[in-house]
Amino acid sequence: MLEKLKAIRSAAFARLEEADSMQKLNDIRAEILGKKCELSQLLRSMGQLAPEERPKAGAAVNAVRQEIEARFEEMRAIIQKKEKEAALLNEKIDVTMPGKRLPSGGLHPINIVRNDIVDIFTRMGYDIVDGPEIETDYYNFQALNLPLDHPARDMQDTFYITKNLLLRTQTSAAQIRTMEKQKPPIKILSPGRVFRADEVDATHSPVFHQCEGLVVGKGITMCDLKGALDLFAKGMFGPKTRTRFRPSFFPFTEPSVEVDVSCSLCDGKGCRVCKGAGWIEILGAGMVNPKVLAGCGIDPEEYSGFAFGIGLERVALLRYGISDMRLMFENDVRFLNQFR
Ligand code: DAH
Repeated sequence: MLEKLKAIRSAAFARLEEADSMQKLNDIRAEILGKKCELSQLLRSMGQLAPEERPKAGAAVNAVRQEIEARFEEMRAIIQKKEKEAALLNEKIDVTMPGKRLPSGGLHPINIVRNDIVDIFTRMGYDIVDGPEIETDYYNFQALNLPLDHPARDMQDTFYITKNLLLRTQTSAAQIRTMEKQKPPIKILSPGRVFRADEVDATHSPVFHQCEGLVVGKGITMCDLKGALDLFAKGMFGPKTRTRFRPSFFPFTEPSVEVDVSCSLCDGKGCRVCKGAGWIEILGAGMVNPKVLAGCGIDPEEYSGFAFGIGLERVALLRYGISDMRLMFENDVRFLNQFR
């Protein structure tokens, strides 16, 4: 029996040596120390021995078992250390490798331009106000001195929802909503989306953006209008920019002007973007018509004001030298990526 025990012991030690992973080591342990192993069988067969030999034999088997267990623990420590080292090696980070860049989003050029306009005018003390995109005929037209059958309505091809409700064609409605609520002095800016039933082409879109401005107070003159718009133009297109006022007509202003800025791409010499003119029209403006003031309960004998409406697409086209407005609405990332 002692012979057999010796053989089991050396076989078990040899098997343990074979382990090169924890998985394998545990498998081998189950095999050499488990219920069905030779050692257990040997223990069970001890009943056949003479009673006085049994304690000695039992002690011998247990001693071998302990030796195998001890060797198993040693092997376990060695293998675990090796596995940990391998894992650490695997996780090693090469800090000199180039990093992975996450794609970052950016603002749409219309939003960039809107934010810049808001910045310029808030620095001059303007408050930002919002207005609804679905307007009543009254706010969009009538209160702006465009009565129901006025021919100037033809300038703005309108999406009507009902006889009285429409998609606003201009942010000018914000003027009326402000003057109804607020006593002068008034100094507001109202950026937003407007809608007209226009065919899509390089310079037209049924949805576009405007920024309305309104200043009402005592002794406000055309000089104030000119000064404000000149500051805006220089802030937007650079300090060398010049502005030019041309007489025009809007029912809600008297006198009315259209305002051109010198082309920032050619500095007024004439190029593709300004079509050789050296100037580009970017907004309409004027002195608020006394009829509009009076309609909002503001005495035109006491107060005067100016208003302007900036076309954001126009400003963006000029600023970035874009020749086709459709690019603004197609949202092709190859186009948008250039503004990050
Ligand atoms: N609402 C005008 C348009 O859409 C632009 C405009 C012109 C706004 C003159 C004004 C203004 O406030 O005074 O064409």
